[in-house]
Amino acid sequence: MTHSTKIAVLGTGMVGETIGAKLASLGHAVTMGSRTASNEKAAAWAAKAGAGAKTGTFADAAAAGEIVFNCTRGDASLAALEAAGEANLRNKILIDVANPLDFSKGMPPSLFTGNTDSLGEQIQRAFPSVKVVKALNTVNCQIMVDAARLPGDHTMFVSGDDAEAKARVRTILTDWFGWKDVVDLGGIATARGTESYLPLWIRLWGALGTADFNVKIVR
Ligand SMILES: NC(=O)c1ccc[n+]([C@@H]2O[C@H](COP(=O)([O-])OP(=O)(O)OC[C@H]3O[C@@H](n4cnc5c(N)ncnc54)[C@H](OP(=O)(O)O)[C@@H]3O)[C@@H](O)[C@H]2O)c1
Repeated sequence: MTHSTKIAVLGTGMVGETIGAKLASLGHAVTMGSRTASNEKAAAWAAKAGAGAKTGTFADAAAAGEIVFNCTRGDASLAALEAAGEANLRNKILIDVANPLDFSKGMPPSLFTGNTDSLGEQIQRAFPSVKVVKALNTVNCQIMVDAARLPGDHTMFVSGDDAEAKARVRTILTDWFGWKDVVDLGGIATARGTESYLPLWIRLWGALGTADFNVKIVR
């Protein structure tokens, strides 16, 4: 995929900023969405990201993108997507990188979805026409967009009900972000697996003292 693609990045945190910067550097037309059109972090991102970078509300961004990245706080993702608007998201691929972390009882966070549901499924249920593909949520954002940041092959997972959408996301992961080992776990319900990895990810982060790590599935 070398042509320029219109992409919505919903989220002005470090994940939105990092994914948005990478996509813009590849020549894609990226619109970063926020609750407010005048978000300062989004404006600072756009000033650095260059010509193709735009900012707006969640709805502005979703309307502008052919592909949408959900980079919002997990417990606010449904509200952010509702603000983006069903009509602006309809039939589009939504790459969901958010995690259902509940910080209400302090650190370490728990998962507000339990282990018989996932945020990916909640989004898919709320927006049935949207092709939700869960991916990238198991690594730090620097690694998401630059797999070669870590030595050797290591593994990225995808979950989603739409085979064509998953194939497109696999191409994005390999061709744009440098992933070599992409494991398709199956339907969106398999996002329970990758989201439930977060409690281990958080302990590894504590034990290793760095977010620069990933798992490799040896088989
Ligand atoms: N940090 C990582 O490397 C990493 C790795 C894997 C997965 N993730 C996941 O990626 C997501 C983004 O993480 P982040 O640290 O970049 O950002 P974040 O602080 O978790 O989320 C920031 C975004 O959430 C929106 N938001 C916050 N409260 C909201 C509300 N009440 N209603 C609607 N939107 C709301 C903000 O909107 P405004 O723009 O209006 O402020 C902002 O765009 C999270 O789900 C996180 O778990 C992060």
